[in-house]
Amino acid sequence: MRLDRMLSNAHAGTRSQVKKLVKEKRVKVNGVLAKTSSMQIDEVNDEVTLDDIPVIYEEHMYLMLHKPAGYISATEGNVPTVMDLIYEDNNGLFPCGRLDKDTEGLLLITNDGPLAHTLLSPKHHVEKEYYVEHALDMSEDDIVRLQSGISYNGESYKPAKVNMISPRSCTLTITEGKYHEIKFMFQALGDKVTYLKRLRMKNLVLDESLKPGEYRYLTEEEIADLKADEQ
Ligand code: URA
Repeated sequence: MRLDRMLSNAHAGTRSQVKKLVKEKRVKVNGVLAKTSSMQIDEVNDEVTLDDIPVIYEEHMYLMLHKPAGYISATEGNVPTVMDLIYEDNNGLFPCGRLDKDTEGLLLITNDGPLAHTLLSPKHHVEKEYYVEHALDMSEDDIVRLQSGISYNGESYKPAKVNMISPRSCTLTITEGKYHEIKFMFQALGDKVTYLKRLRMKNLVLDESLKPGEYRYLTEEEIADLKADEQ
């Protein structure tokens, strides 16, 4: 495996940050200064250190992307995909769940299939919180309908938590991930979503210091919280 990939996996930084660490002569492999970040190492048997502290290889990677509008949540396609924004070795990474092309906000990018499965499986009822702007003023009746669950076009949507911010904006928390779920819920009310941004998934909150299109590694604490059984 390449040294930069191993260091990235171990949360030492993005590939470009890791390259800088090597240039700054802070990385050693078996006690010898690493010359290039692209050198091949044996991630299990070689001892890699950063500032003389051993770096432990981690199999899985967890990135928080602030998804911008205009990108599809897929690994490949004819249009830009969210993976075009990730400057890491591919390493089996994929977006955990789908946001519509025009939806912004929190998207977990990982290569941890079992975790993604747990987070996305309908039986785990993982909360997803969105900021929603919509075309019409929200009525009391609309709130009750969103909170009670909605049937629309042969599909049923489970009750949502609604927190009204202004007559035409709110946060909505849902526990499913059905196709166009929030847009269809608002269509059922005779309204239209004009802007949608995911703020949270389970207890992982979008880091607002990330600009749309930017990403960062999850902290150890964020990873542990995502893996914890209780919401
Ligand atoms: N609901 C939608 O309608 N679109 C999204 O991208 C996410 C939730």
